[in-house]
Amino acid sequence: MAAKNFKYVILGGGVSAGYAAREFAKQGLKPGELAVISKEAVAPYERPALSKAYLFPESPARLPGFHVCVGSGGERLLPEWYKENGIELILSTEIVKVDLAGKTLVSGNGESFKYQTLVVSTGSTVIRLTDFGVKGAEAKNIFYLREIDDADKLNEAIKSKKNGKAVIVGGGYIGLELGAALRINNLDVKMVYPEPWCMPRLFTSGIAAFYEGYYANKGIKIIKGTVAVGFTANSDGEVKEVHLKDGTVLEADIVVVGVGGRPLTTLFKGQVEEEKGGIKTDAFFKTSVPDVYAVGDVATFPLKLYNEIRRVEHVDHARKSAEQAVKAIKASEEGKTIEEYDYLPFFYSRSFDLSWQFYGDNVGETVLFGDNNPTSPKPKFGTYWIKDGKVVGAFLEGGSPEENQAIAKVAKVQPPVASLDQLAKEGLSFASKI
Ligand code: FDA
Ligand code: NAD
Repeated sequence: MAAKNFKYVILGGGVSAGYAAREFAKQGLKPGELAVISKEAVAPYERPALSKAYLFPESPARLPGFHVCVGSGGERLLPEWYKENGIELILSTEIVKVDLAGKTLVSGNGESFKYQTLVVSTGSTVIRLTDFGVKGAEAKNIFYLREIDDADKLNEAIKSKKNGKAVIVGGGYIGLELGAALRINNLDVKMVYPEPWCMPRLFTSGIAAFYEGYYANKGIKIIKGTVAVGFTANSDGEVKEVHLKDGTVLEADIVVVGVGGRPLTTLFKGQVEEEKGGIKTDAFFKTSVPDVYAVGDVATFPLKLYNEIRRVEHVDHARKSAEQAVKAIKASEEGKTIEEYDYLPFFYSRSFDLSWQFYGDNVGETVLFGDNNPTSPKPKFGTYWIKDGKVVGAFLEGGSPEENQAIAKVAKVQPPVASLDQLAKEGLSFASKI
């Protein structure tokens, strides 16, 4: 089979791929110059919807409703958009071999693709319990959530196990968002995680106490400080019980596992420089290999604000890094340069009626402010992180758009703080006056 030739190839069809395609079109493309190759069967979409509105029992989100770039208030890129812009959208095609020196990609069915410039946007994959040999973890109705196919399978199980029992393994983003989604679907939900509180990567114990209390009030039982060590199945091979390390046995019709992700870099091993588990890039997302860029979850890039090399597994960075890389590619073709990526980390989540945002860095001392009573009708609280006498990070639950903007500004400006007590007293008004 002759190789297909493209000037640009975006490898991956997720969030950053969609935003990169839009940026290429904005900057000017000739028909046939760009291909997007994805193992998913659908055009790029806003992945965060999968753990939220996609699982709602009433009026769930469905494609084409949430194709990129609606998540950031932009134009919705339907499959026709790619055609109209002369972009080849090559779906249901997994690349299984990459030769960066030969500028060639090979798919599972033996097709070859050649490129002049490659944008790697392969994202992450889930860590599976079978990866560390948990007994019985291959039973039916044990789910992971990364792609739309996973969400479809979970939705089917939710329907067929109506009012059944669900166990969520993991207390991170997936754990908290899926715990809520399954509860909204009227399943009996229990959550299990090893740490003393949920989302320890970001939350302080004070922040976590609010969410754990709120979830408990919704009828979710949280079991902390232990892990799932095995599963038993019924005669149909469907999961029946979850065995915990502390000896507890939980009944389960559905298990959802969210024990972390891993960037998909295996295809490039030994061909490109890596750091901190990702593909190392500069401030323009250029890798150590000429004409190869990496964006989104897979990129380990210089975070200028903190003078550190980091990887970020969140959607805002996926979008912005994609745009930065394409601008840099186009500028370099004209012998021009663009400004370095200067990113302010931004993470968010939503579950039940709750919604939080975080900006900046969660290092140093912390100050909790506001109403964090989980039984309040309209809870609103936050936390500042203070390092070297300056506010470097800010978290807010229940903020208005203006208030969220205010905490973003605080994290960017890093104002000095004279007294932590005073900061706690001022709370949100400290941010609002910056
Ligand atoms: P992304 O995972 O979006 O895309 C990777 C694409 O590459 C996929 O289409 C995949 O199939 C394809 N691919 C991989 N290997 C391939 C190969 N060999 N051949 C062909 N195709 C290949 N973040 C946030 O800030 N707020 C939120 O609320 C959420 N919510 C959320 C929910 C769920 C369920 C998940 C899984 C993740 C989130 N996130 C999030 C994280 C966010 O979605 C994530 O950081 C971005 O999607 C990353 O974008 P990428 O383009 O890097 O990867
Ligand atoms: P995570 O890293 O947020 O959480 C993993 C959690 O797994 C840990 O907090 C821990 O509680 C738990 N854990 C680890 N080992 C365990 C074990 N053996 N048994 C039980 N629990 C164990 O990862 P995730 O929640 O799986 O999310 C996967 C990816 O999706 C991440 O990249 C995340 O950023 C992304 N995501 C983001 C959002 C968001 O930003 N709102 C939402 C969903 C997913």
